[in-house]
Amino acid sequence: MSQYYQYDVLIIGSGAAGLTTALTLPSHLRIAVLSKGDLSSGSTYWAQGGVAGVLDDTDTVESHVHDTLIAGAGLCREDAVRFTVENSRSAIDWLIEQGVPFTRNDDTDEDTSHFNYHLTREGGHSHRRIIHAADATGAAIFTTLLERARQRSNIDLIEQQVAVDLITASKIGRQGNECLGAYVLDRETDEVDTYAARFVVLATGGAAKVYLYTSNPDSACGDGIAMAWRAGCSVGNLEFNQFHPTCLYHPQAKNFLITEALRGEGAHLKLPNGERFMTRFDERLELAPRDIVARAIDHEMKRLGIDCVYLDISHKSAAFIQEHFPTVYERCLAFGIDITQQPIPVVPAAHYTCGGVVVDQHGHTDIANLYAIGETSFTGLHGANRMASNSLLECFVYARSAAADISCQVAHVNLPDQLPHWDASLVTDSDEDVIIAHNWDELRRFMWDYVGIVRTNKRLLRAQHRVRLLLSEIDEFYSNYRVSRDLIELRNLALVADLIIRSAMLRKESRGLHYTLDYPELAELAEDTILRPASVDG
Ligand code: FAD
Ligand code: SIN
Repeated sequence: MSQYYQYDVLIIGSGAAGLTTALTLPSHLRIAVLSKGDLSSGSTYWAQGGVAGVLDDTDTVESHVHDTLIAGAGLCREDAVRFTVENSRSAIDWLIEQGVPFTRNDDTDEDTSHFNYHLTREGGHSHRRIIHAADATGAAIFTTLLERARQRSNIDLIEQQVAVDLITASKIGRQGNECLGAYVLDRETDEVDTYAARFVVLATGGAAKVYLYTSNPDSACGDGIAMAWRAGCSVGNLEFNQFHPTCLYHPQAKNFLITEALRGEGAHLKLPNGERFMTRFDERLELAPRDIVARAIDHEMKRLGIDCVYLDISHKSAAFIQEHFPTVYERCLAFGIDITQQPIPVVPAAHYTCGGVVVDQHGHTDIANLYAIGETSFTGLHGANRMASNSLLECFVYARSAAADISCQVAHVNLPDQLPHWDASLVTDSDEDVIIAHNWDELRRFMWDYVGIVRTNKRLLRAQHRVRLLLSEIDEFYSNYRVSRDLIELRNLALVADLIIRSAMLRKESRGLHYTLDYPELAELAEDTILRPASVDG
């Protein structure tokens, strides 16, 4: 039997964005936080480097803003950048108040200031401004926020719940187009339940699983972007998919990132013969923004026909490496690589979705009572290339802003009247799940081959042709069979892939993360790529 639930606020996603929203909403509101796997299934848990912010007396808001604008290659929205950076200190103070165990300063360290926490550096930053918990910052933040949320009796944390689609007034034939809730697959009962809510917050993370090789966990399927699009929201700048330059290259290592903080602390990128090659690409060398470093690695790998390049920090003392990078050290050692003695084999992999659901400074989408925050959103902060460690910062700043906005609106929004239950009367159980597995693999492979670090018109057209075939096959499957997590994710990934390809085709220039051999130059005018459901389908 499917269930019917009612909440003041339904938050879909239990990462940095979702948990922060839940914790900063007033405690008289009844809140549900859903996760489609375990509560830790998002990217947040795996974040390594840290959170960027203006924390040191020698740093300034202007400098952080400037660096972000440069990394974003002329496409950041300056108001969004200022808003985020100006709120960085208060967001990080809030995390410290919650009890996040950030690494403290060692008095013997160079570059210390009166601020009590150790600050590291990453690509694009002209200052040390990344606060971190050794190299496992995400786990420290997630664990602390989750513990706090568990102490709050008004917050229900519900695992293994896969949101299928949003319920809007227009979809169920009512006046207006506000969001009223969501249909959610309970993976334990296999039923699709109805969640009615005064406000819905999409905090579902990014879509990097659209690519074959990624640093992201399995949850990153763009579900929030796809649900918002189907509900009628615009999406922005989806062609900007960030490839992290350094993921571990090892046959048994699935999705393991080698944090950029290694380069921040002096690690060098090398070819198999030991030559440092970033000297030929950018004067900022290994600390150039990510798009430049990833493209340089890709170029060298293709030029020399090699499977990987190497990241070497072995010139630092073993004690320094083990203290600053315990997670990377242990994980590499488990694969037989002693990073205090040897260089680490690395390759670029899909890491971050810079575009997403278009929102304003409060996380409002185009649909009333529907918010989007964190990696699923497009705020304008990242432009054509996200600067390292600005992503977690964006989650905290916008989650707090959305929560403050909901608190102001709550008196004016009622719980929706009874919503219709999910209709499963016309579908049967699938006996051909192999199709889903096959389509998953095919999609991720052609996205990697044709819509990756270097693009061309021809490759994009090929990808578009294939994604259209997949979309029609998936539609047919979806109409005839009971939904499962795999089917929901495949349907969403294929839709997001289509939106990425359309966005990439519209950009007739090379800027930041979007590099195409057909238009290698920068256009004079920097413009966002905004897709609106009606105009795209029409
Ligand atoms: P996530 O943390 O990804 O959480 C998404 C949540 O949504 C999960 O709970 C998931 O289960 C849930 N969900 C998704 N779809 C559904 C659905 N259909 N129904 C129900 N629930 C759903 N950024 C930095 O700023 N600094 C770093 O050091 C850093 N390091 C990183 C290292 C790695 C390996 C990775 C992968 C990313 C890193 N990033 C870093 C990026 C950053 O971690 C993410 O952008 C950020 O954590 C996203 O947070 P989020 O809350 O938006 O989403
Ligand atoms: C890293 O630690 O290299 C990831 C940082 C980020 O994605 O911002």
